[in-house]
Amino acid sequence: MQKGRALYTGKAKVVHETDMPDRLILYFRDDATAFNAKKRGVIANKGTINAYITAKVFSYLEGRGIPTHFLERVSDRELMVKKVEIVPVEVVVRNRVAGSLAKRMGREEGAPLRKPVREYFFKSDSLDDPMISEDFILADGLATEDEFEAIKEKALIVNELLLEMFQKASILLVDFKLEFGRADGQILLADEITPDGCRLWDATTLEKLDKDRFRRDLGKVEEAYLEVVNRLFPDFPEEVSL
Ligand code: TMP
Repeated sequence: MQKGRALYTGKAKVVHETDMPDRLILYFRDDATAFNAKKRGVIANKGTINAYITAKVFSYLEGRGIPTHFLERVSDRELMVKKVEIVPVEVVVRNRVAGSLAKRMGREEGAPLRKPVREYFFKSDSLDDPMISEDFILADGLATEDEFEAIKEKALIVNELLLEMFQKASILLVDFKLEFGRADGQILLADEITPDGCRLWDATTLEKLDKDRFRRDLGKVEEAYLEVVNRLFPDFPEEVSL
Protein backbone atom coordinates (compact mmCIF):
# COMPACT_ATOMS: atom_id res chain seq x y z
CA MET A 1 0.00 0.00 0.00
CA GLN A 2 1.39 3.39 -1.09
CA LYS A 3 0.64 6.68 0.68
CA GLY A 4 -0.50 9.33 -1.81
CA ARG A 5 -1.08 13.07 -1.72
CA ALA A 6 -2.70 14.91 1.16
CA LEU A 7 -6.45 15.20 0.57
CA TYR A 8 -7.22 17.32 3.62
CA THR A 9 -5.22 18.98 6.39
CA GLY A 10 -7.15 19.25 9.64
CA LYS A 11 -6.20 20.87 12.94
CA ALA A 12 -4.35 17.83 14.30
CA LYS A 13 -4.23 15.32 11.42
CA VAL A 14 -3.51 15.09 7.70
CA VAL A 15 -5.66 12.76 5.60
CA HIS A 16 -3.79 11.11 2.71
CA GLU A 17 -5.14 9.13 -0.19
CA THR A 18 -3.55 5.77 -0.98
CA ASP A 19 -3.24 3.62 -4.10
CA MET A 20 -6.45 1.88 -2.95
CA PRO A 21 -9.59 3.97 -3.60
CA ASP A 22 -11.36 2.84 -0.42
CA ARG A 23 -8.44 3.35 1.98
CA LEU A 24 -6.91 6.43 3.54
CA ILE A 25 -3.93 7.14 5.77
CA LEU A 26 -4.43 9.41 8.79
CA TYR A 27 -1.20 11.14 9.85
CA PHE A 28 -1.34 12.40 13.47
CA ARG A 29 0.57 15.65 14.12
CA ASP A 30 1.79 17.23 17.36
CA ASP A 31 -0.15 20.44 16.61
CA ALA A 32 -2.83 21.34 19.11
CA THR A 33 -5.61 23.89 18.78
CA ALA A 34 -8.40 25.01 21.03
CA PHE A 35 -11.41 27.33 20.77
CA ASN A 36 -11.74 26.59 17.05
CA ALA A 37 -8.05 27.25 16.42
CA LYS A 38 -8.00 30.67 18.12
CA LYS A 39 -5.35 29.10 20.39
CA ARG A 40 -2.53 27.11 18.80
CA GLY A 41 0.44 25.17 20.10
CA VAL A 42 2.42 21.97 19.93
CA ILE A 43 2.28 19.05 22.37
CA ALA A 44 5.48 16.99 22.08
CA ASN A 45 4.87 13.40 20.92
CA LYS A 46 1.08 13.92 20.80
CA GLY A 47 0.82 12.52 17.26
CA THR A 48 2.50 9.26 18.24
CA ILE A 49 0.49 8.95 21.47
CA ASN A 50 -2.84 9.74 19.81
CA ALA A 51 -2.30 7.40 16.83
CA TYR A 52 -1.45 4.60 19.29
CA ILE A 53 -4.44 5.28 21.57
CA THR A 54 -6.86 5.48 18.63
CA ALA A 55 -5.56 2.21 17.15
CA LYS A 56 -5.89 0.39 20.48
CA VAL A 57 -9.24 1.86 21.45
CA PHE A 58 -10.81 1.27 18.02
CA SER A 59 -9.55 -2.36 18.06
CA TYR A 60 -11.06 -2.77 21.53
CA LEU A 61 -14.40 -1.39 20.33
CA GLU A 62 -14.38 -3.48 17.10
CA GLY A 63 -13.84 -6.59 19.23
CA ARG A 64 -16.95 -5.67 21.19
CA GLY A 65 -19.28 -5.16 18.23
CA ILE A 66 -18.75 -1.51 17.26
CA PRO A 67 -17.76 -1.22 13.57
CA THR A 68 -15.06 1.43 13.04
CA HIS A 69 -13.09 2.81 10.11
CA PHE A 70 -9.78 1.59 11.64
CA LEU A 71 -7.80 -1.04 9.72
CA GLU A 72 -4.14 -0.98 10.78
CA ARG A 73 -1.43 1.08 12.49
CA VAL A 74 1.17 1.50 9.74
CA SER A 75 3.76 3.63 11.58
CA ASP A 76 4.11 5.54 14.86
CA ARG A 77 1.98 8.40 13.55
CA GLU A 78 -0.06 6.77 10.77
CA LEU A 79 -3.23 4.69 10.73
CA MET A 80 -4.78 3.08 7.68
CA VAL A 81 -8.55 3.51 7.70
CA LYS A 82 -11.52 2.79 5.48
CA LYS A 83 -12.60 5.79 3.46
CA VAL A 84 -15.93 7.04 4.80
CA GLU A 85 -18.21 9.98 4.17
CA ILE A 86 -18.14 11.81 7.50
CA VAL A 87 -21.59 12.62 8.95
CA PRO A 88 -21.23 16.34 9.77
CA VAL A 89 -22.44 15.92 13.34
CA GLU A 90 -20.13 15.80 16.37
CA VAL A 91 -21.65 13.63 19.07
CA VAL A 92 -20.64 14.55 22.63
CA VAL A 93 -21.39 12.05 25.41
CA ARG A 94 -21.18 13.28 29.00
CA ASN A 95 -21.02 11.32 32.27
CA ARG A 96 -20.35 14.36 34.48
CA VAL A 97 -21.01 18.06 34.01
CA ALA A 98 -17.96 19.87 32.57
CA GLY A 99 -16.83 22.31 29.89
CA SER A 100 -19.49 23.99 27.80
CA LEU A 101 -22.32 22.24 29.69
CA ALA A 102 -21.05 23.58 33.03
CA LYS A 103 -20.92 27.06 31.52
CA ARG A 104 -24.30 26.87 29.75
CA MET A 105 -26.12 25.57 32.86
CA GLY A 106 -24.15 27.47 35.51
CA ARG A 107 -23.10 24.21 37.20
CA GLU A 108 -19.93 23.06 38.94
CA GLU A 109 -17.52 21.02 36.85
CA GLY A 110 -17.62 17.41 38.03
CA ALA A 111 -21.26 17.47 39.15
CA PRO A 112 -22.81 14.02 38.62
CA LEU A 113 -25.56 13.26 36.08
CA ARG A 114 -28.34 10.71 36.61
CA LYS A 115 -27.68 9.23 33.17
CA PRO A 116 -25.32 9.89 30.25
CA VAL A 117 -26.18 12.97 28.18
CA ARG A 118 -25.81 13.07 24.39
CA GLU A 119 -25.42 16.40 22.63
CA TYR A 120 -25.02 17.17 18.94
CA PHE A 121 -22.95 19.85 17.22
CA PHE A 122 -22.84 20.75 13.52
CA LYS A 123 -19.31 20.16 12.24
CA SER A 124 -18.44 23.56 10.76
CA ASP A 125 -15.26 25.53 11.46
CA SER A 126 -16.73 28.69 9.92
CA LEU A 127 -19.78 28.53 12.25
CA ASP A 128 -17.76 27.38 15.31
CA ASP A 129 -19.55 23.99 15.55
CA PRO A 130 -22.98 25.22 16.75
CA MET A 131 -25.13 22.98 18.93
CA ILE A 132 -28.03 21.45 16.98
CA SER A 133 -31.15 19.50 17.86
CA GLU A 134 -32.08 15.96 16.86
CA ASP A 135 -35.03 17.33 14.90
CA PHE A 136 -32.78 19.63 12.88
CA ILE A 137 -30.37 16.77 12.05
CA LEU A 138 -33.28 14.84 10.51
CA ALA A 139 -35.13 17.85 9.05
CA ASP A 140 -31.98 19.09 7.32
CA GLY A 141 -30.98 15.59 6.17
CA LEU A 142 -27.59 15.61 7.91
CA ALA A 143 -28.37 11.96 8.65
CA THR A 144 -31.31 9.70 7.80
CA GLU A 145 -33.60 8.40 10.55
CA ASP A 146 -31.95 4.98 10.39
CA GLU A 147 -28.45 6.44 10.44
CA PHE A 148 -29.22 8.69 13.37
CA GLU A 149 -30.79 5.86 15.37
CA ALA A 150 -27.60 3.83 14.80
CA ILE A 151 -25.42 6.79 15.80
CA LYS A 152 -27.37 7.50 19.01
CA GLU A 153 -27.35 3.85 20.07
CA LYS A 154 -23.67 3.31 19.25
CA ALA A 155 -22.69 6.45 21.17
CA LEU A 156 -24.16 5.01 24.39
CA ILE A 157 -22.61 1.58 23.86
CA VAL A 158 -19.21 3.17 23.16
CA ASN A 159 -19.63 5.14 26.39
CA GLU A 160 -20.27 1.96 28.42
CA LEU A 161 -17.25 0.21 26.86
CA LEU A 162 -14.96 3.22 27.34
CA LEU A 163 -16.10 3.78 30.94
CA GLU A 164 -15.06 0.21 31.70
CA MET A 165 -11.71 0.52 29.90
CA PHE A 166 -10.76 3.81 31.54
CA GLN A 167 -11.97 2.70 34.96
CA LYS A 168 -9.45 -0.17 34.88
CA ALA A 169 -6.75 2.48 34.41
CA SER A 170 -8.14 4.54 37.34
CA ILE A 171 -9.33 7.23 34.93
CA LEU A 172 -12.75 8.89 35.11
CA LEU A 173 -14.26 9.42 31.64
CA VAL A 174 -16.01 12.75 32.15
CA ASP A 175 -17.04 13.37 28.52
CA PHE A 176 -15.90 12.79 24.95
CA LYS A 177 -16.64 13.57 21.32
CA LEU A 178 -17.33 11.02 18.58
CA GLU A 179 -17.64 11.27 14.82
CA PHE A 180 -19.27 8.73 12.53
CA GLY A 181 -18.99 8.01 8.81
CA ARG A 182 -20.89 6.12 6.15
CA ALA A 183 -19.36 3.38 4.01
CA ASP A 184 -21.13 0.59 2.11
CA GLY A 185 -24.48 1.56 3.61
CA GLN A 186 -23.14 1.13 7.14
CA ILE A 187 -22.43 3.61 9.95
CA LEU A 188 -18.84 3.31 11.19
CA LEU A 189 -17.19 5.01 14.14
CA ALA A 190 -14.58 7.32 12.59
CA ASP A 191 -11.97 10.01 13.36
CA GLU A 192 -10.11 9.38 16.66
CA ILE A 193 -10.57 8.72 20.37
CA THR A 194 -7.74 10.46 22.24
CA PRO A 195 -7.12 12.91 25.10
CA ASP A 196 -7.67 15.67 22.49
CA GLY A 197 -11.39 14.89 22.37
CA CYS A 198 -12.08 13.40 25.81
CA ARG A 199 -12.10 14.76 29.35
CA LEU A 200 -10.12 12.29 31.45
CA TRP A 201 -9.62 12.84 35.17
CA ASP A 202 -7.55 10.81 37.60
CA ALA A 203 -10.18 8.71 39.39
CA THR A 204 -8.79 9.55 42.86
CA THR A 205 -7.35 13.05 42.69
CA LEU A 206 -9.57 14.31 39.80
CA GLU A 207 -6.44 15.78 38.22
CA LYS A 208 -7.04 16.60 34.53
CA LEU A 209 -5.20 14.29 32.11
CA ASP A 210 -6.43 15.66 28.77
CA LYS A 211 -6.45 18.64 26.39
CA ASP A 212 -7.99 20.89 29.06
CA ARG A 213 -4.38 21.18 30.37
CA PHE A 214 -3.54 22.90 27.06
CA ARG A 215 -6.84 24.82 26.72
CA ARG A 216 -6.54 26.23 30.25
CA ASP A 217 -2.72 26.62 30.43
CA LEU A 218 -2.42 24.15 33.32
CA GLY A 219 1.08 22.93 32.34
CA LYS A 220 2.38 19.33 32.21
CA VAL A 221 0.44 18.70 29.00
CA GLU A 222 2.73 16.10 27.41
CA GLU A 223 3.09 14.39 30.81
CA ALA A 224 -0.69 14.02 31.03
CA TYR A 225 -0.97 12.42 27.56
CA LEU A 226 1.88 10.03 28.45
CA GLU A 227 0.22 9.17 31.75
CA VAL A 228 -3.00 8.22 29.94
CA VAL A 229 -1.34 6.04 27.29
CA ASN A 230 0.97 4.33 29.81
CA ARG A 231 -1.86 3.59 32.23
CA LEU A 232 -4.10 2.19 29.51
CA PHE A 233 -1.45 0.34 27.51
CA PRO A 234 1.70 -0.63 29.44
CA ASP A 235 3.33 -1.94 26.20
CA PHE A 236 3.34 1.57 24.69
CA PRO A 237 7.02 2.44 25.42
CA GLU A 238 8.30 -0.71 23.69
CA GLU A 239 6.09 -0.29 20.63
CA VAL A 240 6.93 3.30 19.60
CA SER A 241 9.98 5.52 19.31
CA LEU A 242 9.59 8.85 21.08
P1 TMP B 1 -17.36 20.90 25.51
O1 TMP B 1 -17.61 20.75 26.96
O2 TMP B 1 -16.39 22.01 25.16
O3 TMP B 1 -18.62 20.98 24.70
O4 TMP B 1 -16.61 19.56 25.04
C1 TMP B 1 -17.16 18.30 25.29
C2 TMP B 1 -16.17 17.22 24.87
O5 TMP B 1 -15.96 17.23 23.47
C3 TMP B 1 -14.79 17.38 25.49
O6 TMP B 1 -14.31 16.11 25.90
C4 TMP B 1 -13.92 17.91 24.39
C5 TMP B 1 -14.59 17.43 23.14
N1 TMP B 1 -14.52 18.40 22.06
C6 TMP B 1 -13.85 18.07 20.89
O7 TMP B 1 -13.30 16.98 20.75
N2 TMP B 1 -13.82 18.99 19.88
C7 TMP B 1 -14.41 20.20 19.97
O8 TMP B 1 -14.34 20.98 19.01
C8 TMP B 1 -15.09 20.53 21.20
C9 TMP B 1 -15.74 21.86 21.36
C10 TMP B 1 -15.11 19.59 22.20
